[in-house]
Amino acid sequence: MILDDNDRFRQFLIAILEERMGEIDIIEVTSARVAIMLFESDPYFEGFLASLDVKNGTFMEVFQHFREKGYTVPFITYSGEKQDTLHESLPFIHQDEENNFKQFSHQLFKTPPFAKAPLTDKDFSRIRMFFFWRFHKVDFSLYLKLGDGKFVKVLHPDEEYGPDFLEKYQDKGQDYLYIESKDFDKFALSLYKKPLHDIDENLAPEEKSRRKTQFIQQMAASVGITPDIVKTADESVKEVIQEAKDKKTLSKLLELLEKSSSYNSDHSTLLCYLTSAMCDELGWTTRRSKEKLGFASLFHDVSLTDPRLAVLNYRSLKALDKFPHDVKKKYKNHPLKGSELVGEITNEYPQVDTIIAQHHERPDGSGFPYGRDFNQIIPLSCLFIVAHDFVSRAYEKNFDLKSPQEILDDMLSEYTQGNFMKCMIALQTVVTKYQLQKES
Ligand SMILES: [Fe+2]
Ligand SMILES: [Fe+2]
Repeated sequence: MILDDNDRFRQFLIAILEERMGEIDIIEVTSARVAIMLFESDPYFEGFLASLDVKNGTFMEVFQHFREKGYTVPFITYSGEKQDTLHESLPFIHQDEENNFKQFSHQLFKTPPFAKAPLTDKDFSRIRMFFFWRFHKVDFSLYLKLGDGKFVKVLHPDEEYGPDFLEKYQDKGQDYLYIESKDFDKFALSLYKKPLHDIDENLAPEEKSRRKTQFIQQMAASVGITPDIVKTADESVKEVIQEAKDKKTLSKLLELLEKSSSYNSDHSTLLCYLTSAMCDELGWTTRRSKEKLGFASLFHDVSLTDPRLAVLNYRSLKALDKFPHDVKKKYKNHPLKGSELVGEITNEYPQVDTIIAQHHERPDGSGFPYGRDFNQIIPLSCLFIVAHDFVSRAYEKNFDLKSPQEILDDMLSEYTQGNFMKCMIALQTVVTKYQLQKES
């Protein structure tokens, strides 16, 4: 288990561990609370690498818990600050950036349980496919493994790539790409040195928003909401809010979505845009309403990794019946799971958790998980539900909105009360403005 909320350093660690130790299972956590929780549900970890610099809880909480329970897992601690010995049974490594971390891995692989790691002599090193989502080009060739000792080059050094390139291999079930082992140290270091998301600045703003959303959701689904993810999400949401003021954006965004295929990230990008434009229309621009709705747009469905479930809505919910019981349960629970996921940012962004928890409620009380009605649903959730309904209907038309009025007419009878009605009118205005823009 690795406890560290610094995404870049944690990924550097994972890369060097997998390079040196081959097939190992690594669990990443970013807060003391989750580390303890995971350990209680499965105490069979062979080693524990912990940063002393985590912001959510402290390492000592975890250590104390382990001692009380009598667990004997070997710990290795590290920190950017030099430390006095915390405890005689706790090896410590200083994260010394000056040394480019060569010293760090040297010391790590001298300390049990990692000291057992064999030094391997090979031509290629495998790297998690996931790490490549952070970049749009790398300095060296990338290879795919075809079989024992058989590798084929799939990308040249400095050749640009995008999500399509990675998705192609991911869809085929590949979890790793390979680089020549002589390039490994440099690559591992770039995981730490380069920005978390090194996006191609030459892309169109709409394409950038899309890729950022995709990246943020991938990260959130695999490690939860880390401080860096919050920062990246915050920047991304602010950009969309800014773009939403320009009415041309909606046409450009729709054009892009028409051509693309990944439901989760695309419906989130459009939602973020629409909720922001609707807030402007309603004058709900205080207390960071737009940011809260933007965060909810990004994270409300993150736990729904199965695309067949992600596209379900209140009109197509019958389709859920053909899934096994546990899948059904997971789906019905995803609003609460999502709301838990953002638990740690609710101090900064109050109500994001409520919007996510309520995103499948309905004005007439027929939704889930609580079955609340229009009187009990907070105004920002009302806005979110209306916008989400529009987006999923637009998706069913493959984002081809030649006659958006059809969709709006169908929706009008659904939202006739209280804040729902206000939000419905705002949506209509936003879409009509888009239509006028398109015709002129
Ligand atoms: Fe959704
Ligand atoms: Fe959902």
